Amino acid sequence: MLEICGPYRINGTVEVPGDKSISHRSIILSSLTKENVIIDNFLFSEDCKNTLEILKKIGVKYSTSKDCVMIEGCGISNFVEPDDILYAGNSGTSIRLLSGLLCGCNFMSILSGDKSINNRPMDRIINPLTEMGAKIYGRLNNKKAPLVIFGGSMLKGIKHEINVASAQVKSCLAIAALFAEGSTEIIQPAVSRDHTERMLEYFGADIQYDGKYTKIIPGKNLKGKDIFVPGDFSSAAFFIIAALILEKSKVLIKNVGINPTRSYLLNVLKEMGANIEIKNERIKSNEIIADIEASSSMLKAVSVNEEVIPNIIDEIPILSVAAAFAEGLTKIRGAKELRLKESDRIKSISTEFKKAGIKVDEYPDGLEIHGSRHREINSSSLKSYGDHRIAMSLVVLALKGKAEVKISSTKCINTSFPGFEDKIFNMISN
Ligand code: S3P
Repeated sequence: MLEICGPYRINGTVEVPGDKSISHRSIILSSLTKENVIIDNFLFSEDCKNTLEILKKIGVKYSTSKDCVMIEGCGISNFVEPDDILYAGNSGTSIRLLSGLLCGCNFMSILSGDKSINNRPMDRIINPLTEMGAKIYGRLNNKKAPLVIFGGSMLKGIKHEINVASAQVKSCLAIAALFAEGSTEIIQPAVSRDHTERMLEYFGADIQYDGKYTKIIPGKNLKGKDIFVPGDFSSAAFFIIAALILEKSKVLIKNVGINPTRSYLLNVLKEMGANIEIKNERIKSNEIIADIEASSSMLKAVSVNEEVIPNIIDEIPILSVAAAFAEGLTKIRGAKELRLKESDRIKSISTEFKKAGIKVDEYPDGLEIHGSRHREINSSSLKSYGDHRIAMSLVVLALKGKAEVKISSTKCINTSFPGFEDKIFNMISN
């Protein structure tokens, strides 16, 4: 339980932990190579530790030191049958990407997760993997985890149009495609994050990608190379928005990944009138990195276009906090995927914001938030629903208020950002 009574200001320089999506991919894809790959700035969060543990159970050897992991790549055909179920915890990226890998292996495996994971949709991977020739089954008529995979069938490349823009589905199929006969083409309705494509390209895979289109031609051995994982843009977003909404505030967040398929929030915030500067832009391990400076701003409301929702999907809870303190009505629609995340984020935001005294209209596909720069927050007891991004967004919300706000179940923050509370509390002052 956290108890916060603002208003605070926030100042200083900070580094956020490594990117969650890239950390998962770094260990999964390195294990498919035959090299020892050193991954620097790896995110040791609950989610990524679950992926590491699963890889260990299928025979991948690794060692860790401080912020690094060294994966001893075993090559595409040397994984071994696990002697237990594989537990993905709260992590959609673990269960979906590893399903793609396990369908290409020559053994049986069972993947399960926590209550949230076992209620999230898995038919979106089961159906196309089945079309590739995999034998993968799930609970509730092949819709939910636990998943059972009977490996050993030869996969064949497919041309697949995904009906939802999901990097997890795309990456699952891209990984399965590496084991298949013939090439796989994936077409999405909107552009989703392209970390898998960038890392496969970095490892020398035969891959073509452009916006909504990805093609993988199997057969070329992946060549492992050391990876630097940039700071997680989604984690940086909590500091950016804290600086924007709090008075007399300025933060510099160093070494953040600003891959354009991930960082569209910067464009949205600029449209809202945010003072943000991008500095020291550079490329490392085929990803774009920069330092981001943000300072107190007079924000105004914004309407977000459906096409860019996948590029801000994880930042919508914290964007909603910015919207609460931006003058006017902010419209976030076309975002029904938010209901299928670690919690039903549309409901979580709308319910908790209302308790704090913020007027929100809830729609099946999004939210409209009535913002005001002079808004007062009610003294309230708020819940995270076990969802890390809801918990951290509520912390930032509470920093702005003049009333005492209690936030329960904040342990889930470890899912993506161990040490968040210490970092942010060290930078604030009254
Ligand atoms: C992720 C993709 C997104 C995102 C999730 C991480 C990834 O999910 O919300 O936090 O690592 O590929 P979807 O691809 O299901 O939209």
